[in-house]
Amino acid sequence: MSAQPGLFIAFEGGDGAGKSTQVRLLADAVVLAGREVVITRQPGGTPLGQSLRELVLHGDHMSARAEALLFAADKADHVEQVIRPALRVGSVVITDRYVDSSVAYQGAGRDLGADEVQRLQTWAVDGLLPDLTVIVDISADEGRRRRGEVHDRMESEGDDFHEAIRSHFLAMAAAEPERYLVVDGTASVEEIAEQIADRVRELGIDL
Ligand code: TMP
Repeated sequence: MSAQPGLFIAFEGGDGAGKSTQVRLLADAVVLAGREVVITRQPGGTPLGQSLRELVLHGDHMSARAEALLFAADKADHVEQVIRPALRVGSVVITDRYVDSSVAYQGAGRDLGADEVQRLQTWAVDGLLPDLTVIVDISADEGRRRRGEVHDRMESEGDDFHEAIRSHFLAMAAAEPERYLVVDGTASVEEIAEQIADRVRELGIDL
């Protein structure tokens, strides 16, 4: 838990799952409920993060460990500069991707080992866990169809890579159901938003 006055919610899922739409809808609902909201994303939630995003998603080939370290650097900066200060003043912070993306993409997708990547990431964010992580679940096949022709370094990987990531997200959620909500990314936008709102109400926000 964030152990701070604010509330910390992360969205995770495969590329093309529709996370960003749900991040916006939840943020709008939370603002209507009268709470301060900070929407952010990883990688790229700070000026340093923007440069790291460009390198890691649109740069040349790099080793898997270098990739994991760049994502970890983005998270370290993001947590210190944006997320913790916002939680400290009681805001609801909604991030489009967080630590679990690295555990799934670098740990399971790149085969670096989920436990090791989890340790690296936990160190980078100084132990800050979301109060709730929403996984928008989608098959590799459906994700590829929705993304169309434009691909970054991760998106251009094959379906095996994306299915490994999907399985890992689902396994993380199954292991700690109290910290996760899994929604079916093929349901309607409104249906998904309602399921998320129901769960966020349980966290004390009067949506
Ligand atoms: P997105 O911002 O459009 O979701 O793209 C971010 C991409 O980076 C996506 O393919 C997932 C990947 N990623 C990682 O591999 N590791 C990470 O730690 C994070 C935050 C994202």
